[in-house]
Amino acid sequence: MVSLNWENKSKSKSLADGFKNIKKISKKDENLLINADNLEALKSLSYEYKSSVDVIYIDPPYNTKNHKFLYDDKFKTHALWLDFIYPRLILACGLLSEDGVIFISIDDNELAHLKLLCDEIFGDENFISQFIWQKKNKPSFMHKKVARMSEYILCYAKDIEKVPMLSVENSKPDKKYPLNFKNNPKKELLFKAGHVEFNLADGLIKASDMSTKTIECSLLDDVEIKNGKNIADFRMYGSWRYTQEYLDELLSDGAKLSVWGVPFRVNLVKNKIKSKMMSNFLTKATCHMPTYEDANSQMIELFGFEAFTKAKPVGLIKTLIKSVTYNKKDALVLDFFGGSGTTADAVMELNKEDDGNRKFILIQSSEKIDKKYESFKRGYKTVYEIMSKRVSLIARKLKVNFTERKL
Ligand SMILES: C[S@@+](CC[C@H](N)C(=O)[O-])C[C@H]1O[C@@H](n2cnc3c(N)ncnc32)[C@H](O)[C@@H]1O
Repeated sequence: MVSLNWENKSKSKSLADGFKNIKKISKKDENLLINADNLEALKSLSYEYKSSVDVIYIDPPYNTKNHKFLYDDKFKTHALWLDFIYPRLILACGLLSEDGVIFISIDDNELAHLKLLCDEIFGDENFISQFIWQKKNKPSFMHKKVARMSEYILCYAKDIEKVPMLSVENSKPDKKYPLNFKNNPKKELLFKAGHVEFNLADGLIKASDMSTKTIECSLLDDVEIKNGKNIADFRMYGSWRYTQEYLDELLSDGAKLSVWGVPFRVNLVKNKIKSKMMSNFLTKATCHMPTYEDANSQMIELFGFEAFTKAKPVGLIKTLIKSVTYNKKDALVLDFFGGSGTTADAVMELNKEDDGNRKFILIQSSEKIDKKYESFKRGYKTVYEIMSKRVSLIARKLKVNFTERKL
């Protein structure tokens, strides 16, 4: 097995152990904002939330060494960043439910290290994908050699066998498919009594050649139509899109057949809504995915100024959460790098959209905001205060309750 090693690996692993003087967080089925260092908070949650969290989304400091961010993003070395993230991911893994999924945002700086570390913690067999997110509409030239437009989201399952297909969309219902299909070999198809809806007056249609210039087919039996349906079985001969077996299967799954006139052209209407597999390419062009610019506008709309740097757009987090909870609308979602509270916002909005009852737990430390930032000037002394304010504003608007805890 390929593995990642660095100087203090085993010491950093040991930080995930030890539950001394940790305050227990009791399970109350409520939305929760926790004001604490996430290492301590994750340990506290491990008492009662072990194997209980359905989705974890995190957006840790990327180690960009950028001094312009409102939160600290400078670890002197890659090894120090790994020391920081390793015990937290071990604890996160313990919190995930059997069919749980974790999404981790990351950029070029620590991607390679994080991937190897996660392969070790979650198991490389549980790797689902590396999502590519278009982070900007316009390229940024912060990097001297190339304009970086993307970030990544690593996605792992606790147990890949137990996770359903990731999906954020359904196939369109009511799409019509003509049953005639020129290139297939000619065969007989049987249409059972009452299975075809006719847009024709009741009466008898005689067996006859129903070919036109482009389509060859014939009706082999007389068809009596009553109340818009065939009262007996009938057969047609031609080139068909589906075999008899597959057609029967579609019909028993709820599809419908219709004929709009003479010559008969049978259409199949697939009315079963199916989940469509999600793509790992999250861009404006492919799926209207919002960017950092959009997130900034959301922040300004809410606070009246740019209260936080590098908040993720709500639409991105909503998409990720939805992709694994579309059939589990009472899922518990955890984010232990809460920032401005985007994940809580996403959970509340998603619930509103699909009548869900998902719950959130967000953890954010009391990281101090430097005096030079507008947020400080407007009275926010810590990042937690920004998160708490944002969640209150959205929760009030959407009539959602939540509890705040300081550890
Ligand atoms: C990249 S930001 C998250 C932004 C968030 N996704 C959003 O959309 O607003 C990372 C956050 O993690 C917080 N953080 C860093 N270390 C932490 C720790 N040990 N415990 C709790 N929070 C921490 C930082 O204060 C910062 O707010």
